[in-house]
Amino acid sequence: MTLIDGKKVSADVRAELKTETAAFETQYGKKVGLAVVLVGEDPASQVYVRNKIRGCEEAGIRSFAHYLPANASQSEVEELVSALAADDNVHGILVQLPLPKHLDEEKILACIPTAKDVDGFSAENIGRLAMNEEGTVACTPSGVMELLKRYEIDPRGKKAVVVGRSNIVGRPMALLLLNADATVTVCHSRTADLKAECAQADILVAAIGKPKFITADMVKDGAVVVDVGINRVDGKLVGDVDFEEVSKKASYITPVPGGVGPMTIAMLLKNAVACAKRAVR
Ligand code: GUN
Repeated sequence: MTLIDGKKVSADVRAELKTETAAFETQYGKKVGLAVVLVGEDPASQVYVRNKIRGCEEAGIRSFAHYLPANASQSEVEELVSALAADDNVHGILVQLPLPKHLDEEKILACIPTAKDVDGFSAENIGRLAMNEEGTVACTPSGVMELLKRYEIDPRGKKAVVVGRSNIVGRPMALLLLNADATVTVCHSRTADLKAECAQADILVAAIGKPKFITADMVKDGAVVVDVGINRVDGKLVGDVDFEEVSKKASYITPVPGGVGPMTIAMLLKNAVACAKRAVR
């Protein structure tokens, strides 16, 4: 069994980006710029945003951090995002989710032009992915693909099963695996025989959000198991996969923490660099 080291791959990706951002700055006389908008004081979001800002600094990306109070109005947030959309120094815009309940998330995200949509959440970017055309892909699923690539796991011709159908992970994950020539099954809460579906997988991606949901009896011998879950249980981080038992059967497996998690920010930074390069070409 090979443990997939997301921390190492993330560090490798960031080191490569540093070279790219330096070259960008030399050629265009400005840094790659990423704006991050946080509304309110959700503690988890504050940690994520802080890590994103630090990631920018380390990768040579100029960050534009904007903190609005929890009671910010719809028009205040829309005006800020629209101003960032018009700013030539900003190549990517990320509005940290979830937003406070009184805000209309869809309307706010609609203020981000597709060219600056570093999260890959827009209908246009998802459409491009569905059509296997160039665009920005959500950070977590593209982080999974980067891990597979760096461990030389080629999905072509393999049976891939994605458990979970969220817009942020499951759906784009399935499309990426399909674009990489896997035969893809997407499972969800209404799947009739989840165990039988999972047991067929050469590549199994768990993105459900339930601790230790994937047990060893659901996994084929020699499968590649990717755990996207981040669940907090008694103050500890636990994945969607029962790591202790499943790791005995898997050929490759991602741990939690230290697997997919560290890849997310690396891919966000990579997306920001890609948006900047597209903006100048
Ligand atoms: N909140 C949790 N994950 C994400 C993410 O990937 N992007 C944004 N914008 N907000 C999030």
